[in-house]
Amino acid sequence: MLLINDRDRLDWRDGMTVQEMLDKMPAALAADWMVSAWDQNTVIRNATPGVSGVEEVAASWLIDLLGLPSQSGVGFVTGATMANFTGLAAARHQVLTAAGWDLDRDGLAGGPRVTVLVGEDRHATVDLALRYLGLGEPTTVAADEQGRIRPDALASALVGVQGPVIVALQAGNLHSGAFDAFGQCTRLAHDHGAWVHVDGAFGLWACASPALRHLVDGVEAADSWATDAHKTLNPPYDCGIAVVADPNALRAAFGLQASYLTHAGDHVEMFERVPEFSRRARGVPVWAALQSLGRSGVADLIDTMARNARAISAGLATVAGAEILNDVVFTQVSVSFGTDERTRAVTGRLLADGTTWMSGSRWRGRDVLRVSVSNWSTDADDVAASIDAVRRAARS
Ligand SMILES: Cc1ncc(COP(=O)(O)O)c(C=O)c1O
Repeated sequence: MLLINDRDRLDWRDGMTVQEMLDKMPAALAADWMVSAWDQNTVIRNATPGVSGVEEVAASWLIDLLGLPSQSGVGFVTGATMANFTGLAAARHQVLTAAGWDLDRDGLAGGPRVTVLVGEDRHATVDLALRYLGLGEPTTVAADEQGRIRPDALASALVGVQGPVIVALQAGNLHSGAFDAFGQCTRLAHDHGAWVHVDGAFGLWACASPALRHLVDGVEAADSWATDAHKTLNPPYDCGIAVVADPNALRAAFGLQASYLTHAGDHVEMFERVPEFSRRARGVPVWAALQSLGRSGVADLIDTMARNARAISAGLATVAGAEILNDVVFTQVSVSFGTDERTRAVTGRLLADGTTWMSGSRWRGRDVLRVSVSNWSTDADDVAASIDAVRRAARS
């Protein structure tokens, strides 16, 4: 029975080997089943103290593991789209309040225009979240050849903006895996009074790897972060995470009053951190994943994925006519096979073969075969089989 109130009894288990880690990963799946069987509504601590306690522990472990500000508010949502929505909702509320506009009373109409600056190669779901929030289309800022927002272009864009501003940065470009220059961009944005949000759906997990942490240098200075557990950490789907440095900004965006909701003191309740009200205890599988892996197990998991991506890239580079288009810094590889037509044909044959799944996509004006290493169980044999499958598809 998982009824967790004593944080000391839940300490990290260090020193697991990769093999042990792979064996133990099903803990998150089992926890997810238990969440369904328990059917606890994770709204307020007074009503469901067990699952709320587990989520609190998972939240504190997460911000410790990712090196984010310790007082941050954490909301467990369905995925990174809703985590982006959650962080950007807190941002919208805060920048409008700072501009003297009462969003809750007056809505958006007639208020100051909120400018949202995004890199031109951001993920489409950032735009979707902005649509949900009524903020319209973002203003795009030029990106470099890896898809990173250009700090010089961001500086120029900020100079031209009047009124409330939000800057959305990216940890992990879906084609290249590239990371924005967080330290420099966040300083520029904060100098202009902007809120900085980071979409780190899969890439924020680089924070948890000592070997890869340099990729996210300075990310902790942002104001909000979105990530997925279901991508990199690998509990079952329905597991995104929103983190906001100022928990009161989260409460300001999502809090509500109702006579039957008995708050536990000053505690920011579960429902005050997420867009939903009733919801499953989706933080429990996160707790189980972290408990079973430990700090070093999570780092191994991420390092193994990145190592597999490098091995796939090295293998694909030996396939006749293949060109790796990105610097493989994390878990993504984009490859072209000369013409767009041939790239599409190779992709089609690979998917028909069925040995491995890589997606067709289009990046920087070219068709690509896109690899995203994101399964916890991918091993060297899978990598070799995948490379062989691409080689066959490229030969046919
Ligand atoms: C960078 C990035 N942001 C956001 C998302 C959306 O995540 P989700 O599908 O969990 O909503 C993705 C999904 O691939 C992504 O790669």
